[in-house]
Amino acid sequence: MKKQHSFGFEIYNDISELNKEDASLMEEARKTTQKAYAPYSNFLVGAAALFNNGQKVFGTNQENASYPVGICAERVLLASASMLQTDEPIKTMAISYNNLSRVGGSDRPISPCGMCRQSLAEYEERTSQSMRLILSGMEGKVIVIESASQLLPFSFGSESMK
Ligand code: THU
Repeated sequence: MKKQHSFGFEIYNDISELNKEDASLMEEARKTTQKAYAPYSNFLVGAAALFNNGQKVFGTNQENASYPVGICAERVLLASASMLQTDEPIKTMAISYNNLSRVGGSDRPISPCGMCRQSLAEYEERTSQSMRLILSGMEGKVIVIESASQLLPFSFGSESMK
């Protein structure tokens, strides 16, 4: 028996095509890139998220001279989220970046790394709610994904340990 897996996503030309809430969250993620500590990669990542209760939380990548010690923006955000609001679901997370080394700008979306996908999936499971992701650079195209765990099919989770 052969099975197939797929998921849908939305793609927009720029944030002007998004609703007001999504567009402003992406604007905040873009602005947050300024707070990244990324002196080694010069790849500044900013994430902004909206809890169900309307509160917002932010994260940036935090690098280290010992490279593997660095943490991605998404996981910095999720750690802050856990401290601010225990078990409060996140409705939407916007992720942007500014690649200072790239001539021609940061105009295409990036999506979370594998380790962050695992953390995002766990946050969804823990709060029993899917988290929308809005992905874009400092300008240009935007991708919207309805649930972060769609990025991690066949994932290992708490169910796997039962
Ligand atoms: N990074 C993030 O913060 N989030 C991502 O989704 C991808 C990568 C960071 C890690 C490192 O500090 C820099 O970007 C380059 O990989």
